[in-house]
Amino acid sequence: MHDYKLLMDTAKEASKKSYSPFSRFAVGASVLAKSGMIYSGCNVENSSFGMTICAERCAIFKAVSEGEREILAVAIYSPNADDCNPCGACRQVMYEFQDEENGVEIITENMGNLIVRKLDEYLPYGFKI
Ligand code: THU
Repeated sequence: MHDYKLLMDTAKEASKKSYSPFSRFAVGASVLAKSGMIYSGCNVENSSFGMTICAERCAIFKAVSEGEREILAVAIYSPNADDCNPCGACRQVMYEFQDEENGVEIITENMGNLIVRKLDEYLPYGFKI
C-alpha cells in the first residue's frame, strides 16, 4: 500500500492552482509514477471552452513529458465536490500509461476518507493499439 495520504495532499495543493473562472469548479490531481516520483496538475480552462484541460491529464502529461511511461496511482481532489471522479477522456489516458503489472489505482476523497478503486472498474475494455 502506497502513501496515498501524501498523494491526496499533493492533489489538494494542486487544486489551489486551478484556473477555472468559467466553471468555478477547481480540480487538482497527482500522479504516482513507477519511478516513485509524484507529478501534479490542475484544470486549466480557456475562453474557447473546448480547449480546457482536466487536472488528471495535465498531471499525466507532465509525468510523461518528464520521461515516465508507467503510472501506479492517480489522486483526484476538488474543493467543490466529494468523491471527484475522472471523466471518460482522462480514464482513457490513464489506460494508455497504466502499470503493466498492477494497472492504476484511483484515489478520491469522500467526507475526509480516502477511497481507492482500480482503473479497471472505471474503464473495462479500454482502447489500446
Ligand atoms: N474537470 C477535471 O479537471 N477533471 C475531470 O475529470 C472532470 C472535469 C474539470 C474540467 C473543467 O475545468 C471543470 O472540471 C468543469 O467541468
